[in-house]
Amino acid sequence: MYEQVSHSLLNDIMTELKPDIKSENIRHFYTRLGANFFSIYTLFHYLYGDRDDFRQQAQRLVETMARQYILRPDALKHLDIERERDHNWFLNQQWAGMALYSDGFAGDLKTLTGKVPYFQDLGVNMVHVMPIMACPSRHSDGGYAVSNYREIDQRVGAMEDLDNLAQELRQRDILLTLDVVLNHTSDEHEWALRAKQGEERYQDYYYVFPNREIPDMFEQTMPEIFPDTAPGNFTWIEGMDKWVMTVFKHYQWDLNYNNPAVFIEMMDIILFWANHGADIVRLDAVAFLWKKIGSTCQNEREAHLILQLMKDCCQVTAPGVLFIAEAIVAPVEVAKYFGEDAINAKECEVAYNATFMALLWDAVATKSARLLNQGIKSLPDKLERATWLNYIRCHDDIGLGFDDTDIRLAGYDPIPHRRYLIDYFTGQYADSFARGMPFGHNAKTGDARISGSLASLVGLEVALERGDPKEIDDAIKVIILLHGMIMSFGGIPLLYYGDEIGTTNDYRYVEDERKSGDTRWMHRPTFDWEKAELRNKHNTIENRIFQALKKMIAVRKETPAFADFNNRELRDSGNPHLFSFCRIDPHHVSDRVLIVGNFDARPQHMEIDDIIPTGFVQQTQLYDLYSGEKPAMFKNALVIPSYRFYWLQAR
Ligand code: GLC
Repeated sequence: MYEQVSHSLLNDIMTELKPDIKSENIRHFYTRLGANFFSIYTLFHYLYGDRDDFRQQAQRLVETMARQYILRPDALKHLDIERERDHNWFLNQQWAGMALYSDGFAGDLKTLTGKVPYFQDLGVNMVHVMPIMACPSRHSDGGYAVSNYREIDQRVGAMEDLDNLAQELRQRDILLTLDVVLNHTSDEHEWALRAKQGEERYQDYYYVFPNREIPDMFEQTMPEIFPDTAPGNFTWIEGMDKWVMTVFKHYQWDLNYNNPAVFIEMMDIILFWANHGADIVRLDAVAFLWKKIGSTCQNEREAHLILQLMKDCCQVTAPGVLFIAEAIVAPVEVAKYFGEDAINAKECEVAYNATFMALLWDAVATKSARLLNQGIKSLPDKLERATWLNYIRCHDDIGLGFDDTDIRLAGYDPIPHRRYLIDYFTGQYADSFARGMPFGHNAKTGDARISGSLASLVGLEVALERGDPKEIDDAIKVIILLHGMIMSFGGIPLLYYGDEIGTTNDYRYVEDERKSGDTRWMHRPTFDWEKAELRNKHNTIENRIFQALKKMIAVRKETPAFADFNNRELRDSGNPHLFSFCRIDPHHVSDRVLIVGNFDARPQHMEIDDIIPTGFVQQTQLYDLYSGEKPAMFKNALVIPSYRFYWLQAR
């Protein structure tokens, strides 16, 4: 859009560009800059316009983007242009992801590169390599406390290894996702070290206060993220003799985005990793980016504006790169991370579907889809060109983040219901086979979240101990059922490493003093490659799970109705044990797939005429895309065996 003020600023900036930039032929950069500059200017001015140095900061921002564009490898520039032409590329059903720690999965980045055939065997074509940037060995928060954003952590390798991995993946059409931890740095990052030494310039990178006056005001409304291990939101720094805001752990210093220098540094870092081959950048803890006294300091409007500005800048330099919002917040809040009041996603194109994840776990514990059917209605429609990451487990805890109103509408009382779920997953009930542990227990509110691996939470660990074949069978079925849901719901399914071979909890973390205080380490395993070999041996647990997921991924890739274009219709069957919805092929609306999952230990039935409009299809024509079989019918009802799912289509 043309607008006089921003355009005249852009003209000034162009005149004053440094000679090294001016001498380059960067036509595509200039066209994109022209297209986005009004928006960049408006946001940057809204956030920083009252500063005397606004003009210089705007100059620096443009030069930062230009320099990274000049550095962007040609292969990636071509990919940008291809993706511009095929801009819905990531909504396609062909994508299936896996998140992993490079050291946990393979040892290091070099070995990981050799494991690409494993992804291909399963059909995974998007790999999220969790944080690999330098971090202190003791206080790392699993890599989410970065001490150098431009170096690879020695434990996993060197930049060259990452570049090789990125190249290898690209050659095989596998997307690479990397983390950029935006909200905080490690207290050992150079900026923090210099702040500690008293450099004001760097103290201004953080929220630093001489006394408790302002921290106390903040504390009145800020919740605690790790109440048991890191209570409060501020830490006293000996030597600097000041308080610093540390929302997560005491060694994670929150960055101050009131300072445009911080914004520009982080933008530069995002583009740096984009240029090292990240197709997707996972932006960590984005809900926390803006702090305001009197608020929870989460989901603030400015946090969204910062992300929009980052997106606008990234589109100028590396437009093929997507952003994932890691915002584990209430359903109404999470959809805003796609960009509010827009038609196309203008903030992050992808967001974690934590609502669906938590609701699935509710269904597992209650063997009922009552809350799932209710709560999923709270998930707002997405914008165009936006998609969900659907997942069951990840490296973090499971938060029970559904709405109290939905819990009530499902017929439960919120407080005892949440209590029940925590007790269920931590194995407090006689009939619960789950082996989870509480995480983030808040003594003041009684709240807690849950740690544990998928296999252990659905009872595989206990079943194996007891050697009970029926229980083992049930646990495997639940693992497959849950994957049947995330693969078909709409969005990119994101598997978690180890789940595809039924990896149970790893309790060795308690022996490591760097990890022992954090139960999340029980589900961040060292991948067992011998166990993984069993995926090729008929009828082993590994084989049953792996082959099921492999089949699902393959079928998904061939089912256009599974592409993500808001082409889902919820279908409440009236049977509380069943979760069902319809997916519609966006190009042939008469091609539909009916998904139904039975969360109960007993077979359930569904009156098919109630959910499929009469005349739409003859029941006898229905078959399950996944198994290739005809579903069982009794009278006019579809029969869904215990813990089974169907992907039904008319032949
Ligand atoms: C994100 C990460 C989590 C980390 C937190 C603080 O939520 O997923 O592992 O502890 O951010 O960086």
